[in-house]
Amino acid sequence: AALEGVVEYRNVTFAYPGAESPVLSNISFTARPGETVAIIGSTGAGKTSLLSLLPRLYDIAEGEVLLDGVPVSDLDRAEITKRVAMVPQRPYLFSGTIEHNLRFGKTEATDQELWDALQIAQGEDFVRAKKNGLNARIAQGGTNVSGGQRQRLCIARALVTRPKVYLFDDSFSALDVATDARLRAALKRTTADATVIIVAQRITTITDADQILVLDNGRIVDRGTHEELLETSPTYQEIVES
Ligand code: CTP
Ligand code: MG
Repeated sequence: AALEGVVEYRNVTFAYPGAESPVLSNISFTARPGETVAIIGSTGAGKTSLLSLLPRLYDIAEGEVLLDGVPVSDLDRAEITKRVAMVPQRPYLFSGTIEHNLRFGKTEATDQELWDALQIAQGEDFVRAKKNGLNARIAQGGTNVSGGQRQRLCIARALVTRPKVYLFDDSFSALDVATDARLRAALKRTTADATVIIVAQRITTITDADQILVLDNGRIVDRGTHEELLETSPTYQEIVES
């Protein structure tokens, strides 16, 4: 049980259905429980595509994506979503209450679990401030909450499922620096035993990652810790300076 949540990409090459050339080439890395792996790279580098292969949004042509040693192609979607939660780059909310939105994926969660998740996601205050609290209504597409509130609700939704693996796709970009810092400190405690893979734009979000993968044009061009990459990777230096 101690090893639950091991993610391994082994020589993964991936092209979107119908596309001629791959958007990811020869991707290999391992992320273990207790670790944070960060992925950075310019727009269109393939970061979202890379994440989407773990929950099997697409099947790959070459290589293997393994979850606890089993190719995800041998697991059904329900089995994967029990262990893997992805906070998508464009977080979506349904029309319905905040509670409905948070319970999506785990209907049996208690109200206390929902509040705990909101507290970690820095969403407790704005939900408490609403007249109906958890029963406050979300408009279709989440248009009556701000972008940052939408992100925090989607992070809380992921926390409610208590996954072994968290995938955060640029999930902190709409937050101000202070909220981002508080949220990540709280997340760090909660996800201490989980595997975390995080795509980020803001360098401060990933400086303490155990491993940073620098993605360029669908390839991992450099990897290491923040300090290592500052020494060795011109591509990383460019990103840091931009
Ligand atoms: N792509 C595609 N079909 C999709 C999604 C993406 O052909 N359904 C292509 C994009 O046009 C891009 C490449 O795949 O050339 C990588 O896209 P993506 O993984 O979304 O790149 P990101 O690194 O996530 O870019 P961003 O920072 O803008 O989110
Ligand atoms: Mg993306």
